[in-house]
Order: sequence, then structure tokens, then C-alpha cells
Amino acid sequence: MSDTILETNGLTKEFMGFVAVGDVSLKVRRGSIHGLIGPNGAGKTTCFNLLTKFLQPTRGSITYDGRDITKLKPAQVARLGLVRSFQISAVFPHLTVLENVRVALQRQRGGSFDFWRSDSLLRQFDDRARALLADVGLTGYETLTAGELPYGRKRALEIATTLAMEPQMMLLDEPTAGMTHEDVDRIVALVKRVAVGRTVLLVEHNLKVVSGLCDTITVLTRGRVLAEGDYQSVARNPEVIAAYLGSEAHTVTEGVPA
Ligand SMILES: Nc1ncnc2c1ncn2[C@@H]1O[C@H](COP(=O)(O)OP(=O)(O)OP(=O)(O)O)[C@@H](O)[C@H]1O
Ligand SMILES: [Mg+2]
Repeated sequence: MSDTILETNGLTKEFMGFVAVGDVSLKVRRGSIHGLIGPNGAGKTTCFNLLTKFLQPTRGSITYDGRDITKLKPAQVARLGLVRSFQISAVFPHLTVLENVRVALQRQRGGSFDFWRSDSLLRQFDDRARALLADVGLTGYETLTAGELPYGRKRALEIATTLAMEPQMMLLDEPTAGMTHEDVDRIVALVKRVAVGRTVLLVEHNLKVVSGLCDTITVLTRGRVLAEGDYQSVARNPEVIAAYLGSEAHTVTEGVPA
């Protein structure tokens, strides 16, 4: 088994000649938490869209777990265990917390959404669903509808529905965006927990979260890799500081011992 679980070579995405992602060669180590950071518009989400095959690259290749996935479809990539956390909108607000996870489990087993299955059939997923909810700290919230959940808990539910896919590698796009301090701490602990035995690729603007979680960080600016390394080394990199200047220059060095 190779030490590298995900590798891109010369990954490029152009939109009408505009280079959103340019020649990105990324190596993600198996079992690591890898951060992808950079200013707004750097190409982070586009990278995720390329990795999960929501977008076709203009050039370049993607290898996942020793297999060239460049030409695969999103569902095929997900089936291989490379799964992106759903956007909040993909959590069904009128279903209960438990039902949301059940549907995700059923989808994983059955391959498609099938709301017409009888309740008793769905119930066989209950035990597993409850276990997943416990994993993300949502025990006690089962009977609330997803729409009633506070924001931070909704993100936890989103992670539970992603875990239902049994990912080997999880992609998280700004899991703490818009959260209160308390929720941020809870999500950080949760990511740490779900990262055990998995690989996580994380896009995150909160650099304190990045420094607390990530083993390796890749910094993107204008679609290109600017720097890579552990938090200490990228935070001290003058080019990285310059790229963040004006916006987050103060945050990037925050928490780094002199
Ligand atoms: N479908 C598209 N068509 C045209 N341009 C796009 C498209 N998607 C993204 N872009 C452009 O590509 C660049 C990178 O966007 P992307 O969303 O990947 O950035 P990001 O790093 O995720 O930014 P943010 O931190 O704000 O989420 C931006 O300039 C964006 O406007
Ligand atoms: Mg983005």
C-alpha cells in the first residue's frame, strides 16, 4: 500500500481561458489531515470539484489509491471511498436527524435515493445510524428535524451523513465557516475523531483550526501552489505572508511561537 493516497499531476482548470487551478501537483499522505488554504478565489473549491469529479480538468491527472480517477464520474469516485462532505442544503430539513442518517445509509447500500421504501425496511439502519450520531456528538438530537438544529450541529449531521458513505478519504470544505467559537472547538474535536483511520483533506479559512488539525498544508494563490509544509513553515514563509497581506496577515502568524 502506497504512502500517498491522493496525487494530482499538473491539475489545471480553465474557465474560458481564466486559470482557476493551474498546474497543481499535490500529494496527500495516507492517514494525514492535509489542509488546503489560500485567499478568496485561490481555487480551493475548484480543486475539490476536480477531485470529486464535479468538474472535468482542462489538463492533468488525478490518482486515488493507486488508481487513475481522472476520467471517472462523481458517483464512481465516491464508491471508491473518496467522499466530500455534503453542503448543508443536502441535509433534508424536514426529516429528523435520525432519518437523515438512515437515508444516507440506505443510499450507500441501495445506490439511490428511494423514499418509497417502507419504514420497517429503513429501521434496519437505525442501529448504525445511532452509532454514527454518537460519533458526531448528536446523541439526544435524534427526533429533532434537521431544520431545528443549531448551525454547528447541522454541520455535525452533515459529517454523519458523509460518514455513512464509509469514506476512506474525506474532503471538507470550510467545516467551521460561520460558526461560533464553541461550535468551532466542537468541530475541530470531531474532525480529529473522524480522521482516525482515514485521510482528510480540509479547506479552511480559520488558521487556528488549520494549525490545530493539519499535518501538512498546501497554500494556493491564484490557482497555483505557493508553498507546502507543516503549519510552522508555511506561516513563516514570506511569500505566504505577502499573499495574505491586507486580509489575513495577522492571523497567519498567530499562534506560531517565535
Ligand atoms: N464555474 C466557474 N466559471 C467561471 N469562473 C469560476 C467558476 N468557478 C470558479 N471560478 C473562478 O475561479 C476562481 C477560483 O474559485 P474558487 O471558488 O475555487 O476559489 P476558493 O479558493 O474556493 O475561494 P473561497 O475561499 O472564496 O471559497 C475564482 O476567481 C472564481 O471566480
Ligand atoms: Mg471556496
